[in-house]
Amino acid sequence: MTYLIFGATGNIGSRVTERLIARGERPAVFVRDARKATSRFGDQVDIHVGDLEKPRSSLAAALAGVDGVFLVTEGPDLDARDRAVADAASAAGVRHLVKLSTLDVHTGVGTGPWHARGEAAIRDRGVAFTFIQSAGFMSNALGWSHAIRERGVLRSSTGAGTIAFIHPDDIADVATAALVERDHDGQALIITGPEALSYGEMAAAIGRAIGRRVRFEEISDQQAHASVVRWAGKGPYADALVDIWRAVREGRLATVSDVVPRILGRKARSFDRWAEENAEAFQ
Ligand SMILES: NC(=O)c1ccc[n+]([C@@H]2O[C@H](COP(=O)([O-])OP(=O)(O)OC[C@H]3O[C@@H](n4cnc5c(N)ncnc54)[C@H](OP(=O)(O)O)[C@@H]3O)[C@@H](O)[C@H]2O)c1
Repeated sequence: MTYLIFGATGNIGSRVTERLIARGERPAVFVRDARKATSRFGDQVDIHVGDLEKPRSSLAAALAGVDGVFLVTEGPDLDARDRAVADAASAAGVRHLVKLSTLDVHTGVGTGPWHARGEAAIRDRGVAFTFIQSAGFMSNALGWSHAIRERGVLRSSTGAGTIAFIHPDDIADVATAALVERDHDGQALIITGPEALSYGEMAAAIGRAIGRRVRFEEISDQQAHASVVRWAGKGPYADALVDIWRAVREGRLATVSDVVPRILGRKARSFDRWAEENAEAFQ
C-alpha cells in the first residue's frame, strides 16, 4: 500500500507518518518545505513539495499510484483545499481518504462549520472516506505554558464547563488504524479523551505534574478575545476560539465517546499522562 500524508510536518500528520514508518511502510508526504520533512523523517519518506493554496500540477503528481491519503487542512476556507484534494485523488484512483475533522461539526461551534463544509466537499467524490471528528487536542494546553511558567496561573473564559481533550497520540493511532485496516470506510469517528475536565481540573493536573500549584482564574469573553488577538491577530480564528471557550462554559462540548477504546482495544490516554509527558514545557 502507498500512503500520502498532508500536514506531515504538523502535530498530527507527523505522528501518523511516524506510525506508518514504524509499521514498515514508506509513506509519501506532501509538504511546503522539503528540508523540514527531511529533518523530521530523514530518508524514510518520499517527499513531494507543493502548496495546497496552489494545487494544480503538484497534487496530481503526488497522488499518482497512491492508495490511501491522510488529509489535514486548516482555515475558514479549508473546504476549497479538501475539494481540490478529493477531486485529484478521485482522478488518480486513490481508494481511501482519511480527513482530520472536528467533533464540532455536530455543535456548529468554532471550526465546526469549516470542517462541515470540508466533509461535504469530500463525500460523493468517488473516494471512500473516513472522517476523524476529534475533540480538542490536549496539546492545546501548551498555549497555557507561558502564563503557568511565569505566573503559575491559567486564565480562561471556560468557567466550570468541561471538555474531554484527546491526546494527539490517540488521534494518530485512530487515524493510522483507519488508514491501514480500512474497517471504518464511510464512517465519521467521534473521538475524545477519556473524561471531560474543567480547565481548573486541568490546571491542577499540570500543577501535580510540575510539583507546583497552578491557579485557575476565570476571565470574561471580552478579556479572552483581547488576549487571543495579542498572539493570533483579529479575525475568524480568534473569534472561533472564543466561541469554543464559551461553548465549553455552557456545557455544550462535554461529549465523551468510547470510540478510541473500541478501535484501539485499550483506554484513551489521560490528561494526567499528557501533563507528565509535557511537564518540562510548564517549568
Ligand atoms: N487543535 C484542536 O483542538 C483541534 C480539534 C479538532 C480538530 N482540529 C483540526 O486539526 C487540524 C490541525 O491539525 P494539526 O494540529 O496537526 O495542524 P498543525 O500542527 O498546525 O499542522 C498543519 C500542517 O498543515 C501544513 N500546511 C498548512 N498549510 C498548507 C498548505 N497550503 N499546503 C500544504 N501544507 C500545508 C503545515 O505545513 P508547514 O509545516 O509548512 O506549515 C503543517 O504540516 C485543523 O484542521 C483543525 O481544525 C484541531
